[in-house]
Amino acid sequence: LHILVLMGGWANEREVSLMSGKGVADALESAGHRVTRLDMDRDVAAKIAEAAPDVVFNALHGVPGEDGTVQGMLDLMGVPYTHSGLATSVVAIDKELTKQALVPHGVPMPGGRVVKSADLFEADPIARPYVLKPVNEGSSVGVAIVMDDSTYGNPIARDAKGPWQDFESLLAEPYIRGREMTTAVIDTAEGVKALGVTELIIESGFYDFEHKYTEGQTTHVFPADIPDNIAALCLRYAERAHRVLGCHGTSRTDFRWDDERGEDGLFVLETNTQPGMTPLSLVPEQARYCGIEYPDLCEMIVEDALR
Ligand code: DAL
Ligand code: MG
Repeated sequence: LHILVLMGGWANEREVSLMSGKGVADALESAGHRVTRLDMDRDVAAKIAEAAPDVVFNALHGVPGEDGTVQGMLDLMGVPYTHSGLATSVVAIDKELTKQALVPHGVPMPGGRVVKSADLFEADPIARPYVLKPVNEGSSVGVAIVMDDSTYGNPIARDAKGPWQDFESLLAEPYIRGREMTTAVIDTAEGVKALGVTELIIESGFYDFEHKYTEGQTTHVFPADIPDNIAALCLRYAERAHRVLGCHGTSRTDFRWDDERGEDGLFVLETNTQPGMTPLSLVPEQARYCGIEYPDLCEMIVEDALR
């Protein structure tokens, strides 16, 4: 096959996407495919039309690329592409829209509300402790945790510098104490399959950009050392999210679990429709534990796009 691997672009997660794209392109090339690598710019449509690939492997993360824009363009061009389609991407990139889609289907997610960052100076938007995050970023870009004794002030001091300040709209969600977990889902020829549960353990701070992409900063425990009922719920919620949102190829659903509250303490934070494919990324790692090597995972995602 002639596969065009689309990566980079101008999203905040550009560098992550370049790592994902390189991994995918190298693997597909080694498997004998003809691979064109494309760092997305404003001429992307013309460049894809000229290359005329059989399929586009979408290795973009964040906005634009994970948000429906590129998916809509490829729909119009009639070029098959990997991962989720337009409507799924539009909903899943937006953490608030994701809640509106999933909670009615019995997927527990934290409450909270969307706030304008300017309003943060007036009062805490919800009771502390809470998490502030851009509604549509990935890799923890722009995320801040406001604890009871947070130095951000109460309310957030006007001169306080924080990661939120580059974003106009933010989601404020109750902070869930406890543990961080994730579950990958893949579309196989036999159907939708959740692979397992990984727990992410970090020494201090939270699972932020640095912890995600610096080797040795985070311990990945697979399978997570959690009770069977909690693990089963993670698999069920991740598969349900994949189905309800209409994901394709692969998705990864992230969890917080307050282990003092049993099943009631398990919450889905979000579903990622373009999960990372870097060497430290979690979907490839879970696949490997399940006997699916990285090149085979890339191949399965391509096959799903052509099904
Ligand atoms: N947003 C990053 C790429 C992830 O979900 O893995
Ligand atoms: Mg994400």
